[in-house]
Amino acid sequence: MSGSPASPVDRVAVRLTKDALRQVRGGHPWVFDASVASVKPEGQVGDLAVVFDDDRKFAAIGLWDPGSPIRVRVLHKGSPRTVDGTFWREQLAAVLERRRPLLAQGDTDAYRWVAGENDGLPGLVVDRYADVAVVKLYSAAWMPHLDDVVAAVVDVAAEHAEPVARVVLRMARTTATAPRRPGTEHLADGDALLGELPTVPVQFVENGLTFEADVVHGQKTGHFLDQRDNRRRVRDLAAGKRVLDVFCCTGGFSVNAAAGSAALVHSVDLSPQAVATARRNLAYNSALPEVAACTHQATVGDAYDVMERLAAKGETYDVVVVDPPSFASRKDQVAGAVRAYARLTELALELVEPGGTLVQASCSARVDAETFERVVTTTAADAGRPLRNVQVFGHALDHPVGFAQGEYLCAVFGTV
Ligand SMILES: C[S@@+](CC[C@H](N)C(=O)[O-])C[C@H]1O[C@@H](n2cnc3c(N)ncnc32)[C@H](O)[C@@H]1O
Repeated sequence: MSGSPASPVDRVAVRLTKDALRQVRGGHPWVFDASVASVKPEGQVGDLAVVFDDDRKFAAIGLWDPGSPIRVRVLHKGSPRTVDGTFWREQLAAVLERRRPLLAQGDTDAYRWVAGENDGLPGLVVDRYADVAVVKLYSAAWMPHLDDVVAAVVDVAAEHAEPVARVVLRMARTTATAPRRPGTEHLADGDALLGELPTVPVQFVENGLTFEADVVHGQKTGHFLDQRDNRRRVRDLAAGKRVLDVFCCTGGFSVNAAAGSAALVHSVDLSPQAVATARRNLAYNSALPEVAACTHQATVGDAYDVMERLAAKGETYDVVVVDPPSFASRKDQVAGAVRAYARLTELALELVEPGGTLVQASCSARVDAETFERVVTTTAADAGRPLRNVQVFGHALDHPVGFAQGEYLCAVFGTV
């Protein structure tokens, strides 16, 4: 476990602007700096912010983060509530309950247990990979609460017959470098919070297929759990097909396509580590005759260059999956993101056989699903290769959308 914080967590009393108070009462998880009318005392990062209304009545409680534009991350609103071990256990048990249908399928032991603001715990992500839990922080305000949160993770997991043996800490880059509360300076990205730090990647099962996740150094928490359902959809349409998986990362789509009897899978990513993992993930499943029979090619390189080169060589595929990183987390990046998506659609369509399938995804929070679908479909139409049977898919069960800005994932499937 992490060391105890040197300074005990205090409470600060916060008053908000009228509009911000209304939004918090309406369920918005963030209070921005400009919305704080007063705070007493000044408080430190990770203190509990108790929001009062003009009648001095309790309105909400959250985590105080004086160094961040998001000053308060709201944990609870309505009647007064103490934030203690019982609170964390109740929250974790409630969000786990929502994942029950996924766990009941019995073919997946990796999932997002806590999806931050979308599960009422803003700035906290907890991912499970078999018996390992990865706690990822998007705010330093969580640090003084880590011991309690980890204890609750272990308790609730045990109560639900899914015991956790190890807990690993991951931090968003901005969190790792943010000013720290005294006593939390020792915490670092990739620390073990419980048990031994995994020295080799952790194996887990998704959709009945075996994968590994580098929970200590890998992108996000080691695997993109949010595309599980879309990978299964690709598996269902892969039989006998040639599949190109662009931005493959650790090969989630590639392995599913192979397991769905694809004749050939070509995985492309800029990261050599990700491509090496994709190769290993294919190998873990090679006992499946479908995977053993599938030809696998892998290319480390820039997706745009690789697609241009493949098109110049006249290569074509029956299914092309394009799942790039986020292009827009801020409003001023939206126009550039839209141009990038359109360019990727053009490049991908050059490679899709007539009658084949384009699968294009966006994880840009600032580009809404409607805009993304329009960009993909109008670009295809303008290129003279309109999409038919267009289907648009959103979030998986363990990546719920809990507030207006919580939606980020969209995948368009269309026949070319
Ligand atoms: C959202 S992830 C893809 C997730 C993956 N499809 C899966 O199912 O796990 C985006 C990936 O794009 C890769 N990437 C980023 N820029 C790239 C580029 N210019 N060319 C190729 N890959 C790139 C990253 O290394 C990362 O693996």
